[in-house]
Amino acid sequence: MTTKTAWFKTWFDTTYYHILYKHRNDEEAQHFMQQLIQYLKLNKTASILDLACGKGRHSVYLSSLGYQVTGLDLSKNSIAYASQFEEDNLKFAVHDMRETYPYQFDAVFNLFTSFGYFNDDNDNLKTIQAVHNELKSNGVAVFDFLNASKARENLIAEETKVVDGITFELTRRTDQKFIYKTIDFEDQGEHFSFKEQVRCLKLEHFKSYFEQVGFQLEAVFGDYDLSPFDVINSNRMIMIVRK
Ligand SMILES: C[S@@+](CC[C@H](N)C(=O)[O-])C[C@H]1O[C@@H](n2cnc3c(N)ncnc32)[C@H](O)[C@@H]1O
Repeated sequence: MTTKTAWFKTWFDTTYYHILYKHRNDEEAQHFMQQLIQYLKLNKTASILDLACGKGRHSVYLSSLGYQVTGLDLSKNSIAYASQFEEDNLKFAVHDMRETYPYQFDAVFNLFTSFGYFNDDNDNLKTIQAVHNELKSNGVAVFDFLNASKARENLIAEETKVVDGITFELTRRTDQKFIYKTIDFEDQGEHFSFKEQVRCLKLEHFKSYFEQVGFQLEAVFGDYDLSPFDVINSNRMIMIVRK
């Protein structure tokens, strides 16, 4: 029997993913981290797990503030890149977020819609349970998810983006469960086709996961300035939960 490799294992591991999204920059990541740190009032020596850290843009900044930071991601290439920044207080490793990492932290951050990729909804719950296991008692977790309601309302069906000389043709559609994106392009005479899918999870879905694992929902913000969440207008749905 052949098992098809899950899309999130391949697409996020390509250089093309990083080319297409290169505008998601360090400045935005640092601004968000400043707001979050101010809100959370973490102890200066706190340990932070950046779960699905990508190339480590949040991890690197958090470690520069003195926190003990671990960045985990499924993408071997992203972790290989991030590892060049390792310090005494900054470590990276390849890890699947559905499995419990065998250490506990004061805070776990899951940033920039690094959630809701799985076909099986049990994997979402498994991930939330793993985050719960990875926290010390009274630890805090942050889930920075897109506002799926607004994203669905404002879906751009077709879009062309030219980045670094590559023409990316993007299509988007939605059904009851997911927002789907296809990414097609040519590079050096070869055609490539990838997809992304993110589950349309609303606040009530997350509340159900949180309740099932024993998390207390403390606050919900709607953007990186930490304005209150509004289901019609907010771009983000940033949930702060306590163990
Ligand atoms: C949208 S990117 C965000 C990356 C990073 N947090 C940032 O803001 O730059 C999503 C990340 O989730 C990672 N990812 C996808 N599925 C994963 C899994 N099952 N376990 C761990 N990481 C995963 C991808 O490799 C990718 O780096």
